[in-house]
Amino acid sequence: MAYKSQETVFTAPTQEDVDESIRKYGRDIYNDFDLDDPVFNDRNSEIIDDLVEKCPVAHSKTGNGYYLVSQNKLVREVGQDWRTFSAAGGYMPNRPDGLPYLFPEECDPPLHTAWRSELNPFMGPGVIKDYDAQIRSDANALIDSFIDKGECEFVSQFSAVLPGWAFFKNVLGVPIADLDKLVDGVESGTFSPDLEERGAKFGFVFQYLGEYLKQRSEEPPRGDMVDMIAAGVTYDDGTTSPWEDRVSVLVDMTFGGIATTTYVISSAINWLAENPEAKKLLLDDPDTYMPRAIEEFARVFAPVVALGRTCTKDVELGGRDLKKGDFVMMVYAGASRDPRVVEDAKTIDITRETVLHSAFGVGIHRCIGSNLARLELRATFEEFLKRIPEYRVVEEPTYVSGYLRSMRTLKLAW
Ligand code: HEM
Repeated sequence: MAYKSQETVFTAPTQEDVDESIRKYGRDIYNDFDLDDPVFNDRNSEIIDDLVEKCPVAHSKTGNGYYLVSQNKLVREVGQDWRTFSAAGGYMPNRPDGLPYLFPEECDPPLHTAWRSELNPFMGPGVIKDYDAQIRSDANALIDSFIDKGECEFVSQFSAVLPGWAFFKNVLGVPIADLDKLVDGVESGTFSPDLEERGAKFGFVFQYLGEYLKQRSEEPPRGDMVDMIAAGVTYDDGTTSPWEDRVSVLVDMTFGGIATTTYVISSAINWLAENPEAKKLLLDDPDTYMPRAIEEFARVFAPVVALGRTCTKDVELGGRDLKKGDFVMMVYAGASRDPRVVEDAKTIDITRETVLHSAFGVGIHRCIGSNLARLELRATFEEFLKRIPEYRVVEEPTYVSGYLRSMRTLKLAW
């Protein structure tokens, strides 16, 4: 294991760096960044690598403007200091008015602690391992639906479906008949290019979950996470969390876990098609290489590109003065590719014994679903590669990017 120590002197991009950025990407990514520029979708890791290498604190002029930190040290500095960098102003830049805040993601302690301490036990490894058989059986049912055809569009036929089934069936226990519309609602509610449809699908899932929570609160308890959320938690002032906070927790859990896992699964299957030696290691010695590969895939195919915090006071960050109220994005995808910390960071290597990454976040908001995500990834790779060990990618995959990144299409044949 060889991680490099981190430098503490921050050097701003030079005029040459700026000129080169304009030549390569058609814009100055250091002073005029835009998460929604199509070039960020097309040349995602190149842009992130340039930010990591050359720019401690980048700036975007879109909307109210926001800052971005990508170097590992600075992402940690922000993520580990919730008093200075608050999540209560939401995680997205230029947040539309009226959008409800989602807990535990968009709040600070003590409210955050009240929720996380009750939620954590339901997502721990001991509870999650009981879902393994069901997830593997679902993975095989999906594979059954296309294996004889010799081809599939992997995203819509597998990787966008399995994480939804895993979550809705095992964690929420919703009626099976509702699965398809929920899975579609989460996918389109996160990524639909038609913003009206995106809002409508998000609204549908929001409403469904609110009604489901109500219905469950009136039924005999099943002892699961939904019962816990429906009962609510006690806040510091002695009051019980209002109903809308409980619904927001259910929505946060739902949207946090599905599209994210889709991207890691799809990208790994895409990469393995071109990397037979790695595939062989996974098939021959899964106990050694699966856990390593899962961390490495999460590191390099980071679905949560960047999430933000609001400065609660004037603060110096990476050599730049930020003001109270400024919004700063932590580029988690960058922190995981920082050569100051990860040796040979641009190379995908599933034999790394320790993979230092920030794909699941840093600090108190660190992903609550990481155990479930890892289980889904392992089940997929083992079941898919066992049944379809030889396959090829027949069309260039397509992607969608913003503060999240996902794959839209991946056409495979065998
Ligand atoms: C590969 C899959 C996943 C990745 C890469 C991922 C990534 C992340 C990241 C980076 C954060 C930190 C957010 C922040 O700093 O503001 C986070 C938080 C969270 N994730 Fe995940 N996640 C994944 C899967 C899941 C799953 C399966 C679930 C639920 C079943 C889930 C639910 C959540 C929730 C509720 C939070 C908010 C936690 C808090 O604010 O305390 N995630 N995730």
